[in-house]
Amino acid sequence: MISFTLNGKKVETDADPDTMLLIFLREELGLTGTKYGCGAAMCGACMIHMQGAPMFSCQITLARVAGMNIKTIEGLSENDDHPLQKAWIEEQVPQCGYCQSGQIMRAAALLDSNESPSEEEIRNWMSSNLCRCGTYNRIVKAVQRAASEMSS
Ligand code: FES
Ligand code: FES
Repeated sequence: MISFTLNGKKVETDADPDTMLLIFLREELGLTGTKYGCGAAMCGACMIHMQGAPMFSCQITLARVAGMNIKTIEGLSENDDHPLQKAWIEEQVPQCGYCQSGQIMRAAALLDSNESPSEEEIRNWMSSNLCRCGTYNRIVKAVQRAASEMSS
């Protein structure tokens, strides 16, 4: 039996410990906000937080999350009102939307450690996350907007 904390609640499972967290989240728990992009640590669509750090859930087995604190996009805020989520709407960031949960989770980890990142810091930090629709400039604006709301 593997147990861990997911979005503030305890999860216990007897699933195969080699199951990838991304698959478990989507197929066993129905948490489909976390997306399957490349499956190879190259796109960031599957990004979650483990112990507060941004991680590719396509690369983490259930065995590795035992005892850990995991947060997905569904647990980022109670009412979809995290400053980043609001800024994403204000700046109309998404195009197809597929990459955006991962983008927001990546950005949230940045603002947890750096309240007012420069544009260069934002672009460097977010470079682990790909967007086939090319929404990069709007992502930067939304992160800046959220940072400014969080520091005001
Ligand atoms: S699906 Fe995990 S990095 Fe692309
Ligand atoms: S919005 Fe389409 S891949 Fe990013």
